[in-house]
Amino acid sequence: MAENKRVPVGVDPFRPNPARVYNYMLGGKDNYDADRDYGDRMLEVAPDTKITAWHSRQFLLKSVRLAAEAGIRQFVDIGAGIPISPNVHEVAREIEPTAIVASIDYDPVVHAHSNALLTGAPGVTPILADIREPDKLLELAHTEAGIDFAQPVAFLIVGVLHFVMDDESPYEAVARFREAMAPGSLLIIQHASVNTHPFFMNATTSNAAGTPSQPNFRTPEQVREFFDGLEMLPPGLVPANEWLEGELKPTRLVVLCGIGRKN
Ligand SMILES: C[S@@+](CC[C@H](N)C(=O)[O-])C[C@H]1O[C@@H](n2cnc3c(N)ncnc32)[C@H](O)[C@@H]1O
Repeated sequence: MAENKRVPVGVDPFRPNPARVYNYMLGGKDNYDADRDYGDRMLEVAPDTKITAWHSRQFLLKSVRLAAEAGIRQFVDIGAGIPISPNVHEVAREIEPTAIVASIDYDPVVHAHSNALLTGAPGVTPILADIREPDKLLELAHTEAGIDFAQPVAFLIVGVLHFVMDDESPYEAVARFREAMAPGSLLIIQHASVNTHPFFMNATTSNAAGTPSQPNFRTPEQVREFFDGLEMLPPGLVPANEWLEGELKPTRLVVLCGIGRKN
């Protein structure tokens, strides 16, 4: 991981950390003043960002249910974030009691929380790994969490790829995951869209330039490319609110969600 420049370093309570800011947006308690101040600045520009975070989390949990109901019992959750209940393994194991989850994040803050909160929980293994190093990540998912890539797997990459810049090979990484997936596997992605309100894009892009929080908003066509060769499940690649039940309103921060199946 050392060769990548934009990586979170240790636990610094005085600088906002993306995983803790997201935890704040979801109403979690694992965050500091610096994270809440940064989150509040985002809320000033787009007051409905907490709603986007909630939509995104509901999409994640709905996808896990859909995958488990389809008989998938292995989950590779990349950029898993600080544990917040209900977690992926809890939802999956309600439907498929033998389900296992590789809960992966590159942030030592997240890893420390995951070790503290998940150690001893059945079926989940916290792993420190970077999506920008796909071969190493796949190897650790196999050796540490026992993921068998000869069997169907659900890859969850929710709220992560927009933190990977174009020169950090995001398409190559996801292509490597698609290649590793057995038939019947699912690729589940949430990604920030260029259709987001320009004020929000300008504010977050300039506030976070050069840091691990720097977002890269992509077009729907660019996000669609991550699913190359897969069958898209209905309703396709759409904003998070459109994936959920009911008539939920669009938000200023637009995140696109999609599920692709390998046949
Ligand atoms: C917005 S949170 C999403 C959390 C979770 N997926 C969810 O939907 O609730 C993004 C997470 O991605 C992680 N992340 C960002 N870049 C990453 C990378 N290169 N490799 C692995 N994790 C990364 C961050 O540390 C953070 O915990």
